Amino acid sequence: MPCCCEECLLIRQRILVTVVVALALLMAACGNGDDSSVDPADIVTVVEEGAELYATYCAACHGENLEGHPNWMTPNADGSYNPPPQDSTGHTWHHGDPTLVQLISEGSPFRESVMPAFGDTLTDEQILAILEFFRSNWGEQERTFQQQATERDLAANP
Ligand code: HEC
Repeated sequence: MPCCCEECLLIRQRILVTVVVALALLMAACGNGDDSSVDPADIVTVVEEGAELYATYCAACHGENLEGHPNWMTPNADGSYNPPPQDSTGHTWHHGDPTLVQLISEGSPFRESVMPAFGDTLTDEQILAILEFFRSNWGEQERTFQQQATERDLAANP
């Protein structure tokens, strides 16, 4: 089973609807691609910083190419899970930025988990750079989906 948390189970039920909505949004967004206020060169720099931080702190578990552990979906005998991929085949993109920053900063909520807390090692900005690096590897659909999850997070906790 791809993810054990309740949010993901609910999300999976709604995924079909969301994909349709995401495609509609994407088509709407295609018309005005050049009114973005973010300089693409800045994003490239952040992605490179995120890639370096990922290689240093995360790749040992989540894989040099974001591929994760081959058996990431099957729990171990002690109930713990192996590191999931961080590319489109994983489930990190199911969660919004605030949820992910908290998880990476404070560590996994699962007691048996080996996912460390990085709050003493990485700033929120560095964690966001790693997330930007993840995004640069996700498909358009995953990016749109995750953007909406971030908006839901922000609406629930302004
Ligand atoms: C010692 C191994 C290890 C290291 C190092 C590690 N992780 Fe993890 N990570 C895991 C495991 C195992 C999980 C599986 C979920 C759990 O146990 O809670 C996980 C889960 C995650 C998740 C949640 C995925 C989801 O959709 O629920 C994210 C995001 C994540 N890791 C990001 C990172 C980032 C970013 C770094 C580096 C800064 C990192 N991890 C370093 C082992 C590791």
